[in-house]
Amino acid sequence: MSTIRSVVLGSGGYLPEKILTNAELARLVDTSDEWIRQRTGIHERRIAADGEFTSDLGLKAAQAALDNAGLTPADIDLIVLATATPDNTFPAAAVAIQRKLGMQHGVAYDVHAVCSGFLFALTTVDAMIRAGQAKRALVIGAETFSRILDWTDRKTCVLFGDGAGAVVVSAESQPGWRSDRGVLSAHLRSDGRFQDLLYVDGGPSGTGTVGHLRMEGREVFKHAVGVVSGVIDEAFAATGFTAADIDWFVPHQANIRIIDATARKLGIPIEKVIRTVDRHGNTSAASVPLALWEAQRDGRIKRGDLLLLEALGGGFTWGAVLLRW
Ligand code: ACO
Repeated sequence: MSTIRSVVLGSGGYLPEKILTNAELARLVDTSDEWIRQRTGIHERRIAADGEFTSDLGLKAAQAALDNAGLTPADIDLIVLATATPDNTFPAAAVAIQRKLGMQHGVAYDVHAVCSGFLFALTTVDAMIRAGQAKRALVIGAETFSRILDWTDRKTCVLFGDGAGAVVVSAESQPGWRSDRGVLSAHLRSDGRFQDLLYVDGGPSGTGTVGHLRMEGREVFKHAVGVVSGVIDEAFAATGFTAADIDWFVPHQANIRIIDATARKLGIPIEKVIRTVDRHGNTSAASVPLALWEAQRDGRIKRGDLLLLEALGGGFTWGAVLLRW
C-alpha cells in the first residue's frame, strides 16, 4: 500500500564570510591552537558580521536549497526554522525568512531544541506532511551563537560558530517499503534533569537579558555518546536497519571525539562519517543541515543513500532520524 513520505528535493547552506581561527582566539583567552584541535577537532569557525542576523543566514541557506531543488518560494507552504538564537525574542525568525522570501502564503514558525533543533524541525515537518497539512516545506537550521557566547570564558567560546543549513522536503507517494525515499523513522527524546549542564543564564522571562551560554563540557561529554547511541538503537530496532545498512552517518558536529566515539560504538567506519566540525565548529541547529549540504555538494551523498542523522543539545534534547536521500 502506498504511503506519503517527506522526500528531500534539495539542500543549501550559508557560512558568514569572517573566519575566526584558533590562533586568533588564543589572543582573546588563555588557550592554544593545539589544545582546541586536540580536544575538539576544531581548526576555525565562522562569525556573523555586525547587522547580519539569524534570519539573514537562514534566508541564504533557504534560497540555496530552493535553487538546488529547482523550486521557488511559491512552491513552499511551510517553513520551520530550528534556532536557539532568533533575531528577536518574538516574532519567530522563521516569519522574517518567510517575509524576506516574499511569501504571503503558507505558515512559518520556529522550533527550539538547541543543537538537536534540526532533527526536531524535520520530525515536526514530517508529521505535518504525513498528516496532509503541508506539501512542500523548507526545514532550516540557523544560528548566531557568537552573540550568546561569553568571550572571556575559554571553556565555551572556542567551541561554537555561526551558520545556516536548509533542506526542501516534499510530500511524495512511496510504495511504503524500507527502500522508500524520504524520512523513514524519527525518534526524539528530552530530559530536563540535565538542564544545569548546558544552558543560557538569561532570558526574557527569567532575567530580561539575553544571557550567555554556560556548559559543564566534561559532564555533557560523559552523557553524549551513551544517550545518542541509545536512541539510534531504538531507530534500528523500529526499522530493522542495522549500522551495516547506513551509507552516511551525519552526526551533530560538537566535538570530533564525540563523533568518532559514537561511530566506533555503532560500528560505522570513519569513511562513512560526514565531518565538518574542523571548519565550522559547533553551529548548533545548523550543523546537521550544513553537513548534508556539504556532502551533497561534493558528491558523497547521492539519491537513494540511507542516512543516519543524530544530535544532542541543551535540555538535554536528542534524537535520531533515518532518511533515504
Ligand atoms: N584552552 C585551554 N585549556 C582549556 C580550555 C581551552 N579553551 N577549556 C578548558 N580548558 C582546561 C580546563 O580548565 C581543564 O583544566 P584543569 O584540568 O586544570 O581543570 C582542562 O582544560 C581540561 O578540561 P575538560 O573540560 O576536562 O576538557 P575536555 O577534554 O572534557 O574537553 C570540551 C572540553 C571540548 C568542552 C568537551 O568536554 C566537550 O566537547 N564536551 C561536549 C560538548 C557538547 O557535546 N555539547 C553538546 C551540544 S552543545 C549545545 O547544545 C548548545
